[in-house]
Amino acid sequence: MTEHDFIPGAAGELPESGSFRWEAPSNIALVKYWGKKAGQIPMNPSVSFTLHTCSTQTELRCRKSGTPSGTPSFEVFLEGSPAPHFREKIQSFFERILPFQPFLSGYAFEIHTENTFPHSSGIASSASGMAALALGLMDLEQVIYPDMPPEFFHRKASFLARLGSGSAARSVGGNLVQWGAHESVPGSSDLFGIGYPLPVHSVFRSFRDTILLVDKGQKQVSSTAGHGLMQGHPYANARFDQATSRIEALQPILEKGDLQAFIELVESEALTLHAMMMTSSPYYILMKPATLRILEHIREFRESANEPVCFTLDAGANVHVLYPEESHEKVYAFIKDTLLPFCQDGQHICDRVGSGAKRL
Ligand code: PMV
Repeated sequence: MTEHDFIPGAAGELPESGSFRWEAPSNIALVKYWGKKAGQIPMNPSVSFTLHTCSTQTELRCRKSGTPSGTPSFEVFLEGSPAPHFREKIQSFFERILPFQPFLSGYAFEIHTENTFPHSSGIASSASGMAALALGLMDLEQVIYPDMPPEFFHRKASFLARLGSGSAARSVGGNLVQWGAHESVPGSSDLFGIGYPLPVHSVFRSFRDTILLVDKGQKQVSSTAGHGLMQGHPYANARFDQATSRIEALQPILEKGDLQAFIELVESEALTLHAMMMTSSPYYILMKPATLRILEHIREFRESANEPVCFTLDAGANVHVLYPEESHEKVYAFIKDTLLPFCQDGQHICDRVGSGAKRL
């Protein structure tokens, strides 16, 4: 498919108004995306677990507004209060998607959104938020083009979400999602995320992710600036090659349920992401002392208790502790006793692999 396939034909009668509600999940990448080309095209493919608990619920209300021209007008509310700090991001999102949903210019929107995870928890809401909004917009498109097949609906939702925030392309589908073309993964595309199409061992269907909130502060570096730092980065090409080859290395690991190899690959991905930030110019150190202590404790516990637990990180100080469902009792006891003292007010979120976005 090409971008062109997402440009709709002439619209028929536009509905006067509508209201559409979606819940979209957050996701955590196993093979990370860091570095992009123009048009939110990733420098390497990535694969993520879809989460179950961390999500954004968005109600999109629309009404027809006068003569269509340019990007639509909109108001945005977070938990019922005006949220002007989201305006800029949503404005540029509308500008990017307008060629693919030209009917938007005839509408005024109200966007009401809330997250299941705490405010300023350091957990990015852009992936789940952009996916929930894109799905609402696809509901409107579906009213205008009623014959749209479900597979196209989901692909285009992921395509639009990607234009808002790259990793949002992976927040539509469930379980494991790949975004970014790789010759070994049938149907994979730089334009949208797809449900991981290769065999996956049952252990990964119920994996746990306990998210430790180490630092709830604002991001030090925006994603856009961070991706930009990969341009001209001395290790960029080696990193893109490494991530690309790991997409292939992950396949037998996922198929066989090889937890030892999973741990090695996933932890190295997290540390490599941070290594890229630490070696860019300017550099960023996003881990806190408590992050490092947690990583050390996870490794010690894994060796002493012989439990297949590992960590991964986003572009921040919080730690995602990943482990199989059947290790939950022992690992959660360890988390409570040893790791929660490193979290701000002991805060953490018990999450797990989830089944993808839902219409509400
Ligand atoms: O979607 P963005 O532009 O916010 O990029 C996020 C990238 C990471 O979260 C750091 C890694 C990933 O693949 O999710």
